Amino acid sequence: MAIFNTILNWVVPPASLVMLAFAWPTLCFINACEWVYNSIYSENMEDKVVIITGASSGIGEQIAYEYAKRRANIVLVARSENRLRVISENARRIGANHITIIAADVVKEEDCRRFVNETIKFYGRVDHLVNAASLGHTFYFEEVTDTSGFPHLMGINFWGNVYPTYVALPYLHHSNGRIIVNASVDNWLPLPRMSLYAAAKAALVNFYETLRFEVKDDVGITIATHGWIGSEITGGKFMLEGAAEMQWKEEREVHVTGGPAEDYARLIVSGACRGDSYVKFPSWYDIFLLYRVFAPNILNWTLRILLSTHGSRRTSLVGTGRPLLDYSGRPLLEGTSPSKFVASPTHFAQFSPQQVK
Ligand SMILES: NC(=O)c1ccc[n+]([C@@H]2O[C@H](COP(=O)([O-])OP(=O)(O)OC[C@H]3O[C@@H](n4cnc5c(N)ncnc54)[C@H](OP(=O)(O)O)[C@@H]3O)[C@@H](O)[C@H]2O)c1
Repeated sequence: MAIFNTILNWVVPPASLVMLAFAWPTLCFINACEWVYNSIYSENMEDKVVIITGASSGIGEQIAYEYAKRRANIVLVARSENRLRVISENARRIGANHITIIAADVVKEEDCRRFVNETIKFYGRVDHLVNAASLGHTFYFEEVTDTSGFPHLMGINFWGNVYPTYVALPYLHHSNGRIIVNASVDNWLPLPRMSLYAAAKAALVNFYETLRFEVKDDVGITIATHGWIGSEITGGKFMLEGAAEMQWKEEREVHVTGGPAEDYARLIVSGACRGDSYVKFPSWYDIFLLYRVFAPNILNWTLRILLSTHGSRRTSLVGTGRPLLDYSGRPLLEGTSPSKFVASPTHFAQFSPQQVK
């Protein structure tokens, strides 16, 4: 058996690469034709029903506006009901057909069951489920002084996608619907200060790749992987070294246009409506996958050189690790103690679906 595997180790990689080289032009041509066809016959979202979790800020919020432009019925889900109210107002102005806001915690299965049931009760169907709830973090694993927040991080970033999917899946089968997953390039590109986040995203991608086989063509799955989109997003919530400590800039302005989050949201929604399996932004990250498989050491050395600032940099430049802000919204200067952050005023609004418009 060992000899057999040794032979295959030598034969299979070069043989596969040669086959791929010959098949590549044909594959590109087929993909291009498929893309043109799907773009022409893209899913019309008018009057369709979309549930968006994590809709109270960042990419989730911008995705809501994209569906609003397509005149969909939108169910906005997050914990902060006040923010959802502002966003629903914006979405209504942009053109959403009908909007429902539901304050819920996606880590709790009963909350997920409740917002899906409310959606079915009111609209009778679910066509797209967009999972965008997340919690980023920005700490070196060894610097952690309190591990109590670990399950919370993994809960939001992993179970916070799995529970809504589990509950909505029967209805998505019924409507031949689609699940849109917000993963991250961190799921395969290792970057410092994001170990748990990256692990949760890797688990997420593997979960949905497996589910894709199980649901066959009945339910579409679009996995979106992106690098750092945060520069234009005005603040957010992060877990710091203290684990229980979070930074939160609640009173953010709601931006409706301009910036990378908007561009990315547009890409995600048009990709989902076209039936794309993947949306990548920026797509040049993909080239590093080759290094990851064939020359992992080169990738590791390069990343080490580029990111060798352990102990001096207090700002994560990738993933959801958007620049840390102080309580006035200014970027945190190097060396500033996390204790300067405002403690999280996280509030778990009562679960109360509200119809808007
Ligand atoms: N921004 C980036 O650079 C970037 C890069 C790669 C991947 N991503 C991914 O893109 C997605 C969106 O990221 P983002 O930057 O837009 O994040 P964000 O601005 O921090 O928004 C996170 C959203 O999740 C909600 N949320 C958090 N915990 C929740 C819970 N337990 N139950 C319900 N809702 C919860 C938050 O609202 P409440 O606190 O009100 O509940 C908020 O609406 C995430 O999946 C993220 O991992 C982002």
